[in-house]
Amino acid sequence: MEKKNLDWANIGFGYRKTDKRYVANFKDGKWDNGALIDDDMITMSECACVLQYAQTCFEGLKAYTTEDGKIVCFRPDLNAQRMSDTCKRLEMPQLSVEQFVEGVKAVVKANEAYVPPFGSGATLYIRPYMFGINPVIGVKPATEYQFRIFSTPVGPYFKGDAKPITIKVSDFDRAAPHGTGHVKAGLNYAMSLHAIVTAHAEGYDENLYLDPATRTKVEETGGANFIFITKDNKVVTPKSDSILPSITRRSLMTVAKDYLGLEVEQREVYLDELKDFAECCLCGTAAVVTPVGKIVDHGKDICFPSGMEKMGPITKKLYDTLTGIQMCKIEAPEGWICEIK
Ligand code: PLP
Ligand code: COI
Repeated sequence: MEKKNLDWANIGFGYRKTDKRYVANFKDGKWDNGALIDDDMITMSECACVLQYAQTCFEGLKAYTTEDGKIVCFRPDLNAQRMSDTCKRLEMPQLSVEQFVEGVKAVVKANEAYVPPFGSGATLYIRPYMFGINPVIGVKPATEYQFRIFSTPVGPYFKGDAKPITIKVSDFDRAAPHGTGHVKAGLNYAMSLHAIVTAHAEGYDENLYLDPATRTKVEETGGANFIFITKDNKVVTPKSDSILPSITRRSLMTVAKDYLGLEVEQREVYLDELKDFAECCLCGTAAVVTPVGKIVDHGKDICFPSGMEKMGPITKKLYDTLTGIQMCKIEAPEGWICEIK
């Protein structure tokens, strides 16, 4: 299979149309078998539920080329399970884990020419998504849905060659108490658009959202969970009912405990205690492990001792071990790697 002639090292995190995508339709109470298609355009009623009432959700995962030329993806069953949880919350029909994973594999195989080579710094980003497609005007869920998966080659989510980023404590909330912050609903991201445009305009890379009920505790950013390292090397991650249960974060907590022998803790993290941590990073499929050098809380700088030049030492170990597992250089725990080709 001849690879596309792309500048893999500099493609950035953007959309590039690839050859095939997967589509399945839900009608009369059931999903069809789904198929790969060529057409990247979608035609629907002007009154489709997704257009009027934002009934849509998505997932994100990546395919990697390993050193010995295999193509693999990372824990796709957890993305399938999380999409099911999201669908329940949004009154959308659930898709089986099997159909989700088969769709992912089919899309990656069909777009093999776009899977970046090992060592290029790029990966194939896979975007499964579902939306209500039939016309709905009274506020109620759709009865017909489309599930699709496209893929696009991507580079790093944050520019700047893995240099630590700067985050602002946002005055906006991305989620509500008892809302949808814990699922991957498109509406959560619509909520965050004004906040991210504002943060970028002020020169920040991302927003830190506080818990929407008390605004005293750290939640997450618009697209990643937080991990903090204490001065005695404990790995701490915020616990909250309104943050997305990141698959990367759950995996990193296992890596920290079982591969690095570190103590791990998931607990409420107060804004007030950020100044006491030694390191901070963001984690997610797109963000991978991104070091955070500084958090700015309304003009007050919280600078982590790891600085603005490079990843802190524990963050680096987490990054190296996780990416080593994802690229099959380090043996993965049972069931983490899904071989595609
Ligand atoms: N938090 C939010 C709001 C996200 O959009 C994402 C990305 O999927 C994450 C966290 C990280 O989750 P994961 O590691 O499963 O990609
Ligand atoms: C992902 O990491 O897959 C996401 O969905 C986050 C988004 C900011 C791209």
